[in-house]
Formats: sequence, structure tokens, C-alpha cells
Amino acid sequence: MIGIFDSGLGGLTALKEARELYPGESIIYLGDTGRVPYGTRSKETIIRYSKQDVRFLLTKNVDAILVACGTVSTNALEELQKEFDIPIIGVVEPACRQAVSLTVNGKVAITGTSATVKSGAFENKIKALGIENGKNIETLSIACPLFVPLVENGFIERDNEITKKTVEHYLAPVREFGADTLILGCTHFPIIADIIADYLPGVRLVNTGKEAAKALGAYAGDNGGRSIKYYVSDDTSGFASTASLFLGYDVTDSAERIDIEKY
Ligand code: DGL
Repeated sequence: MIGIFDSGLGGLTALKEARELYPGESIIYLGDTGRVPYGTRSKETIIRYSKQDVRFLLTKNVDAILVACGTVSTNALEELQKEFDIPIIGVVEPACRQAVSLTVNGKVAITGTSATVKSGAFENKIKALGIENGKNIETLSIACPLFVPLVENGFIERDNEITKKTVEHYLAPVREFGADTLILGCTHFPIIADIIADYLPGVRLVNTGKEAAKALGAYAGDNGGRSIKYYVSDDTSGFASTASLFLGYDVTDSAERIDIEKY
């Protein structure tokens, strides 16, 4: 059984991939919807919150955990791996490996929450992997905090004028920089990938949740009968409709509400 968590429902973009890649594996998903966003918080708070998320998943006897959150992966992964004796996979390394293999002109842009960009984790990993692969890679990082509430509030249609304007506002420097590859360093961002792609034609987009789900391969298998259970830390009404948007199919299951402060 695999545990997947995010600050909210963006991590469902990783669950979607895991579900397709490992059809016989059971999954427990936790969205800390009562405390989203994490991306505007301090490193200490992100570490404290994410430790509680992991402790909750451990009560469900998961065998491995996917941190389907760019903010936690860039600010707390090492602390989580130190504290808990279970495989914990983040999104940074898998996404950076994909970006380094995709870039042709050596210009990689990174988007994420403010905390993600502040951490410098994607840039450092890209530089290190570039050297390992004999590629000289330049990076440009841009915090796009408004993408998270736009996605959580369903402003995701391809022709949504507000989201299009916001994309243009944040990503104009990516055009100037001439990146040929853009890491969507937050698991919410693939939901508006169409709008981003329309603004940056020809730029290869890296979906962090998808790449990280592939990295789960060593721990996911066939347990002879799948179940997917969803937990959230706030109101459950509206879960199915929002989850359906993120997963791209009709979710009929409801989520169970937990008190995350107990963990
Ligand atoms: N899904 C989270 C991430 O990948 C972003 C939401 C937040 O700020 O908590 O960074």
C-alpha cells in the first residue's frame, strides 16, 4: 500500500499517474486541505505540518510514501527521511532528471510556490545533474503563488481570461530567457498545463507528480485488489467534484475528514 500526500488536492495529479502505472496497488491519499497552502509558510512550519501528514499515513500501514507536493519536497524531504524509517520519495529528483534529459538548448525554467523557489532545491539538483550528464544548464526560477488558488477554485478552463493573464504575468520572463523546458514544480500546476503551453508554445513541460509517480516503481506492485481511500483535514463537501477536476474522471468516493493536529 502506497501513501500519497499534499497540502491540498494538487497531489491528486500524482495519484492519477500512480493509479495508471500500478493498477493493482492500493493507495491512501491525504490532502491537508485545512492548512493549504504550505507554499507561503516558513520552512519550520512546512516541516512540522509534513511530519504530521507522514505520521497519519503511517497509521494506515503504508509501505512507502510519495510526497506529492513541491513545497514539502523542497523544504522538508531530508527531515522526513531522517525521522521516519520508511521509503519517502519527493518530486525534485525525478522531475529534474526528466528536465535534464529533455532540454536541448540547456535553458530550464522552474516554477513553484514561493517556498519552493526560495529553497533553491530544483536549481541545485538541475545543476548537479547537468554536470553529471556533461550538460551546461542555465536555470531561471519563478514563484507563481497565484496559480494555487486559481486551480483550487476551478479557474482552469483553457480560455479562462483571469488564469491566462496570470500565466502571462508570471511567465513572460520564461519567454525572454528562451527556456526550452519548464518544470511545473508544484503539483497543482499540471491542471493548467494547457494554458501554460498555449503561452509557451514548443516548451517542454515537466509534470512533477507524474515523474515522481514513476519513481515509486520500486515499492508499488500488485497487492491483489486495489482500493483508493481519500482523507482530508477540512470540510469534505465538494471533495468529489474538485477531485474529479484534478483526476480527469468522475470520482464517486467521498473523503473522510481527519483531525491532523492529533498526529
Ligand atoms: N501542491 C503544492 C506544491 O506542490 C502547492 C500548494 C501549496 O502551496 O501548499 O507545492
